[in-house]
Amino acid sequence: MKKILTIAGTRPQLVKIAAVSRILRESFQEILVNTGQHYDYNMAGVFFDELNIPKPDYDLGIGSDSHGRQTGKMLIALEEIVDKEQPDAIIVYGDTNSTLAGAIIASKRHIPLIHIEAGLRSYNKLMPEELNRVMTDHVSTLLFTPTETAVRNLQKEGITEGVYTVGDVMYDAVIYNMELAERRFNLQNFDLVSKQYYLGTIHRAENTDTKEQLTAILKAFSKVEEKVYLPLHPRTKNKIKEYGLASLLTDSTNIHIVEPVSYLEMLLLEKNAKAIITDSGGVQKEAYFMKVPCVTLRLQTEWIETVEYGWNQLVDPLTEDLAEVLKYIQEGLPINNLYGSGDAAVKITNILKEMLK
Ligand code: UD1
Ligand code: UDP
Repeated sequence: MKKILTIAGTRPQLVKIAAVSRILRESFQEILVNTGQHYDYNMAGVFFDELNIPKPDYDLGIGSDSHGRQTGKMLIALEEIVDKEQPDAIIVYGDTNSTLAGAIIASKRHIPLIHIEAGLRSYNKLMPEELNRVMTDHVSTLLFTPTETAVRNLQKEGITEGVYTVGDVMYDAVIYNMELAERRFNLQNFDLVSKQYYLGTIHRAENTDTKEQLTAILKAFSKVEEKVYLPLHPRTKNKIKEYGLASLLTDSTNIHIVEPVSYLEMLLLEKNAKAIITDSGGVQKEAYFMKVPCVTLRLQTEWIETVEYGWNQLVDPLTEDLAEVLKYIQEGLPINNLYGSGDAAVKITNILKEMLK
């Protein structure tokens, strides 16, 4: 059996590997490396437990740090593992620092690099994610894209070989887990009533790293007329504390801050929300999969199809009124299978079987 080394380490990557590893392991020996970029139980461990992700072969325990130090520490550890394991290919997902570290080591060691969720662009080079994905795509051997937009983005940069549109592995994950989520959890567990609350998530650097931007977002949430249920990413929680913004939350009776929830809990919360307010890439798409309208608190999105088809609206909290936008949000739009058919992992595995024959 050919050997594939998978590198992951953040919350969204755990959701993605759960969907792919299950299928991949039927045909390949997979060595799983967890960088440990995310490490709180509710950001990492719960995903391993709930989604039955195989125990990692290597737990690097890198944790949080500045971009250079975090990526550098990953590189040092990964080099040793790659040299020892001599894999036939390396898989990385998405656009985090764990993705970039994997991409660098694969290219330096001349091992075929497989990028899942390739070709996405915001065309905003101030975002760490944009830098990570551009650099990763340019050293990838196989690029699995979720959309045709992503293929065109790659073409513009001269990348045309090894590009395959397979759909979105996060759609595979939703299809596989939605029923399970509804069997295991109930909205009453959260003291919520279906379609009588908004679900929010905020964590992007561009939204949390200046006091002005984060203040504008929290004020926007506090003006929304119905309950806003907010499972808060630790980055955002830390920034609220650092900037002394906690009073904005305690003064508002409609914002309900909770710890990050598990994936199955999140699916249930998304499906029953009146609308979703987010800056997360994964959550924007999940809103679409659940047929729930979405407001994205960013100036650009990589998932432009959701905006084009009316499911998602970009809102700048500095200049626009979120509460007003939510009053007129569109519901019941048609669904067009923008992200494939939920069999991305099967397609990826089949192409890998051909390539690594
Ligand atoms: C990272 C990714 C981002 C992705 C997000 C998913 C990069 C550059 N960014 O952002 O693309 O959308 O993950 O959630 O890779 N922290 C904890 N506990 C944890 C993890 C993080 O307390 O388990 C706190 C730490 O204060 C840390 C901060 O969150 O400094 C940011 O974590 P980091 O992994 O650097 O970036 P994210 O914002 O999570
Ligand atoms: N998610 C979760 N619990 C939460 C928030 C998000 O399980 O409290 C899931 C969400 O359903 C999606 C993934 O985490 O599958 C998205 O991760 P995140 O928003 O951290 O990163 P991004 O997609 O923006 O890179």
